[in-house]
Amino acid sequence: MKIPIIIDCDPGVDDALAIILALRHPKVDLKAVCTVTGNGDLENTTKNGLKILSLCGREDIPLYKGSGKGLDDKQPDTVPAFGDDGLGGYAHVVQTDKQIEQENAVDFLLRAADESNGEITLFATGPCTNIARAIRKDKEFPKKFKKLIVMGGAKYTGNMSPVAEYNFWADPLAAKEVMNAGFHEIVMIGLDVTNKIALGADIREILRMFDTDLSRFIYNITRVGLEENWETRRKPVAPMHDVLTVAYLIDESILTLKKANIDVVAEGIGRGQSIVDIGGHWSDGNCNALYAAEVDVEKFYKLFLTTIFKENEQEILEYLR
Ligand code: BDR
Ligand code: CA
Repeated sequence: MKIPIIIDCDPGVDDALAIILALRHPKVDLKAVCTVTGNGDLENTTKNGLKILSLCGREDIPLYKGSGKGLDDKQPDTVPAFGDDGLGGYAHVVQTDKQIEQENAVDFLLRAADESNGEITLFATGPCTNIARAIRKDKEFPKKFKKLIVMGGAKYTGNMSPVAEYNFWADPLAAKEVMNAGFHEIVMIGLDVTNKIALGADIREILRMFDTDLSRFIYNITRVGLEENWETRRKPVAPMHDVLTVAYLIDESILTLKKANIDVVAEGIGRGQSIVDIGGHWSDGNCNALYAAEVDVEKFYKLFLTTIFKENEQEILEYLR
């Protein structure tokens, strides 16, 4: 049976990759996409979401527009790392007539929770605002999902400050409320592992040579991220954080998880920092989440590439061997 999922996101190059991977894998049933401000303002991330669904020929999947402002009623700073349009300057290439649904993302999430029978896995690959707003309206909301898989936080690093990752930093209060809301299971996939799966220049070049609509799209949208990493860190790699959430759903053995108690710093110098207490050592043994400690990078690439480019499977396997 297919796994029903909803992705709440801020597309965003790596959100786009997460959606594409979900749509290309036979095991996954993407029920809906919700958008939030993040890798661009809300109009921008919403437009990108519509374009990605059209690019994949899945205009039938509904898209719900969500929160433009955080829980503090301010629009968080958006991320410049993926270019002005959030898709590496390449969004204009995809045309779409697809429209958003009339219902707001928060109302949709509340309704989806009620109709879910506890079977839906919820993904958060952007700031947690929509999900936190849903929880504020219905305390039972978390219990109505099978689990929450969130790209956010980190134990040992940050990308907005020495200690804070963007999604948690953008709306830290939302992240804090979501982590502590009582989901049956939360898997927190943070920078500690997502930094390790960044797309290297060699594999990106192979995508260019595959020369399909999708491979060209991924090649082009990842250019700005790769250049930014080269300029700032002398590393020719493009960020792909969010895609690891869907890869984990498809094959759990890609990640090594550790039970942990995870909280988020809502303000001050540590704003957005995730405090990861492995084993609940400082919390009387209580754990509210699973923390992604390690990733099998080779296994990830095999899954990611052979799922999205099935027609090039042999070449991919030969290259990865
Ligand atoms: C996260 O921030 C966004 O820019 C990415 O899409 C990802 O979800 C990484 O910190
Ligand atoms: Ca994202």
